[in-house]
Amino acid sequence: MNNRTYIEIVNGAPIEEPARQYYFMEQLKNVIQEKESTLGRKLVASVATFGCQMNAHDSEKIIGILREIGYEIVEDAKADFVLYNTCTVRENANLKVYGRLGHLKKLKEKNPNMMIALCGCMMQENVVIEKLKKSYRFVDLVFGTHNIFKLAELMFEAFNADKTVYDIWEDTTMIVENLPSVRKYSFKTGVNIMYGCNNFCSYCIVPYVRGRERSRKSEDIIKEIESLVKDGVVEIMLLGQNVNSYGKNLDENITFAGLLEKIEQIEGLERIRFMTSHPKDLSDELIEVMSKSKKICNHLHLPVQSGSTDILTKMNRRYTKEGYLELVKKIKDKNPDISLTTDIIVGFPGETEEDFLETMDIVKQVEYDSAYTFIYSKRTGTPAASYDNQVPDDIVKDRFDRLLKVVQDISAKRANMLEGTVQDVLVEEINDHDDELVTGRLSNNLLVHFKGDKDLIGKIVSVKLNECKGFYYFGEMINE
Ligand code: SAH
Ligand code: SF4
Ligand code: F3S
Repeated sequence: MNNRTYIEIVNGAPIEEPARQYYFMEQLKNVIQEKESTLGRKLVASVATFGCQMNAHDSEKIIGILREIGYEIVEDAKADFVLYNTCTVRENANLKVYGRLGHLKKLKEKNPNMMIALCGCMMQENVVIEKLKKSYRFVDLVFGTHNIFKLAELMFEAFNADKTVYDIWEDTTMIVENLPSVRKYSFKTGVNIMYGCNNFCSYCIVPYVRGRERSRKSEDIIKEIESLVKDGVVEIMLLGQNVNSYGKNLDENITFAGLLEKIEQIEGLERIRFMTSHPKDLSDELIEVMSKSKKICNHLHLPVQSGSTDILTKMNRRYTKEGYLELVKKIKDKNPDISLTTDIIVGFPGETEEDFLETMDIVKQVEYDSAYTFIYSKRTGTPAASYDNQVPDDIVKDRFDRLLKVVQDISAKRANMLEGTVQDVLVEEINDHDDELVTGRLSNNLLVHFKGDKDLIGKIVSVKLNECKGFYYFGEMINE
């Protein structure tokens, strides 16, 4: 396209969102069609997602836009448009991306038409951008977490640029609604209820890369869920870094528990999940609403991070070991068979053997159904990165192994308790290893494999859990 036409197209774009993006999607449809007729084949795109559910959901929006403009989506890295939606919560998430980029460089040398785009949390870090500018100049487009909605406009720019297009926003108050999205599963999906995080746990980079906390209006959330349900969704996962502080920056007077009560009323919706709950903000009102609800799943992810009050203080978590245990007691009193899961960090700076034993103790007291255990990873820019007393690797590894053993034994014991019972199961897919079996999810988030066919996918059925295999079950469907 000549420069003049390009400028005319950009100047002709509406200012308001999302109309502006729909305009660029129309322009891109022409660009893609032209390329397809030159090449004599369909153009394909691939999206690789790293990190948490938040990123997975962002990728559904990205894929929605790519499909809309005409790409076929493939799993393969050998695509015409390759996008990595990155995570930077721990260093290894970060290293994986650099490793994969090395591989992409070789593919691009063979196919100069290939376009490479990077987005997500890693791109919000200055050190990453500097490194890309210096050593990864073959990348075509780089944007962050705040402007994913702008993908169409940025791609249009990248197609017309002869160097990397960078668009990184420091933060935003904008929430752009109603763009296309393609769900990975037809029957379940994530729904953002809030963005960003204000907690600044001292080890965590998320507040720096996802910006300040902002909640979506309850009306918009309800409308989105209603339209998802009309489109076949029966289970939703409400997403936020700290769902328990939902509503704090809104004009309307609403809490997370209040939002859940509204969502419960939506006819046709069967299951409600949410993550993540910060213990410091978990209200009695929420415990009450969970115990009364027919739709909220029997599962609560309640990251503890450490069992030592000393370490929790240094982590800026704003609760104590005793406070956390009291909260767990309140939750279990009202919801006796709830499944509790958690996140734990081992080897936070200054963690002593005594601190670590407190973590082992809290794990044994709470008896988590499962726990994600992480080795502390130093993140540049966070307060903990400059703390003294970083724990030596061999000690951390030893603690990590000891913790994992305890966590796994307790998980197996908890899972065994349901053996022989009949549970409601949402059928998710044909089993990976045996196509006579289907795989479904219990309310408590565990999986069960049982005989069935693809017609069951997306349905909730009763399944007897015949055999517990530690982290999952084999069962049989019961016709009621
Ligand atoms: N908002 C969520 C957590 C998001 S990050 C919450 O507060 O619970 C997911 C998990 O990654 C955290 O719960 C924590 O256990 C882990 N994590 C975060 N930063 C980390 C770091 N620097 N090193 C190791 N694990 C980390
Ligand atoms: Fe990170 Fe803490 Fe925010 Fe969770 S609550 S995202 S751990 S800063
Ligand atoms: Fe990673 Fe960003 Fe999620 S850093 S854990 S993808 S919010």
